[in-house]
Amino acid sequence: MTQTAEFQDGAAYSGGVFMPVAEAKISVLDWGFTRSDAVYDVVHVKDGRFFRLDDHLARFERSMARRRIAIPESREDVKEILVRCVQLAGLTDSYVAMVASRGRPQVKGSRKPADCANHLVAYAIPWIDVIPAEVQERGATLMVSDHPRVADDAVDPTVKNYQWSDLTSGLFDAVDEGFDTAVLCDARGMVTEGPGFNIFAVIGGGLVTPEHGCLHGITRRSVIDICAKQGIACRTGDLPRTDLESADEVFLCTTAGGIMPIARIGNRKIEAGAPGPVTRRVMDAYQAMHEDPAYVTFIDSPTRFAAAE
Ligand SMILES: Cc1ncc(COP(=O)(O)O)c(C=O)c1O
Repeated sequence: MTQTAEFQDGAAYSGGVFMPVAEAKISVLDWGFTRSDAVYDVVHVKDGRFFRLDDHLARFERSMARRRIAIPESREDVKEILVRCVQLAGLTDSYVAMVASRGRPQVKGSRKPADCANHLVAYAIPWIDVIPAEVQERGATLMVSDHPRVADDAVDPTVKNYQWSDLTSGLFDAVDEGFDTAVLCDARGMVTEGPGFNIFAVIGGGLVTPEHGCLHGITRRSVIDICAKQGIACRTGDLPRTDLESADEVFLCTTAGGIMPIARIGNRKIEAGAPGPVTRRVMDAYQAMHEDPAYVTFIDSPTRFAAAE
């Protein structure tokens, strides 16, 4: 991939135009900013290929529908815009975001969401990990936060959204106490998710991951698919905090980082190591999925936007 200096930090699409990522701005009056009234999705590019792009686009469309946000661009448009952003940025490994914002009311002074002009912003930037690579290497330390995750019926966590107050509080608490990151529980004491990732516990050789209080991550789905293929027992459902705290192995998973082993949870070291044997198996299979044509989309495919930047 070629890259020009102006796009070296990434490329964005906003207001129907492509530009260097630093030039992409939204209004201070945009409800996406003033009310976190936006939905988004993030897909990754590894070795010049998108991973599960159609699954991310489908989830993005579902999130928009659930929040009654409708952008002018079709799914095919969004796909081509993302490809074009990656091409302009010249990236072979990239963090690629699509954001649908409520926008600004088109009727002066209106407080009605339906009066807003919804719009798409997209960008491709160099790869980032939600847990730094060197931390993943040694295994992250995880705090089970006492800060509760917002209730599902207040903010639907399966709609990918920017309501991160609780996750951010958990992260502050964790870092203040010397941990790398945090996972939050719901009001019932069931584990949910953390700032930017889902969680799996390995208990008695099988996997358990929460069903409620969390985004149904695409990486989580990949892990569930891997388990089905490899005959590893995997259950989605309630995961009590105490079960997580005594689990044989624990790993986090997300688009921006993949499968991330936990070395210590609270004050307890994971004896199986980081990664332990089951986590290692899942990590290897997840890496192999990136070679499977069923899951990848090449970024050198031509787009209708190629001439229109
Ligand atoms: C709150 C939250 N949970 C889970 C995830 C993992 O989802 P995915 O695997 O689709 O990246 C993310 C990803 O950003 C997230 O923000």
